[in-house]
Amino acid sequence: MTRVLVLNGPNLGRLGVREPEVYGSATHEDLCARVEGWASGLGLEAEVRQTDDEGELVRWLHEAVDTGADVVLNPAAFTHYAYAVRDAAAQVTGPGGLLVEVHLSNPAARETFRHLSVVGGVATGTVAGFGIDSYRLALEAIAARRGRRTSSPRP
Ligand code: DQA
Repeated sequence: MTRVLVLNGPNLGRLGVREPEVYGSATHEDLCARVEGWASGLGLEAEVRQTDDEGELVRWLHEAVDTGADVVLNPAAFTHYAYAVRDAAAQVTGPGGLLVEVHLSNPAARETFRHLSVVGGVATGTVAGFGIDSYRLALEAIAARRGRRTSSPRP
């Protein structure tokens, strides 16, 4: 079964209370439940993790490489400046692993500093702007690439 690490960066543990007008009212726990449901409907085995720590995120990306897991990555603010996260993401996709960069909001439609993603250039692809559904679309893209079902039952 295709294993997918769903990795969330800094401040995403604050979903539900953090700027709900931008990020929605669902909590990180809600996100985990939705992602796990979508993944199992698609025949994927997903594990969701969140960290505020760049080193931990880098180590989880190394783990994905070493265990052959694909990755859905919301690097949060690290997106815009963290070259160590970019270099770790490149190690996932370099040998053929899939890494989909996701964002709840659409950074391109927000402040200028959010327009640059240092991760996007080494990602397989990017999904942004669909709230938690960005994760569903990313999982569907991975399932499609891995030859699994391409749509999951909607809640
Ligand atoms: C985000 C967008 C980033 O610019 C921001 O720093 C985040 C969340 C998103 O999911 O929309 O923390 O990655």
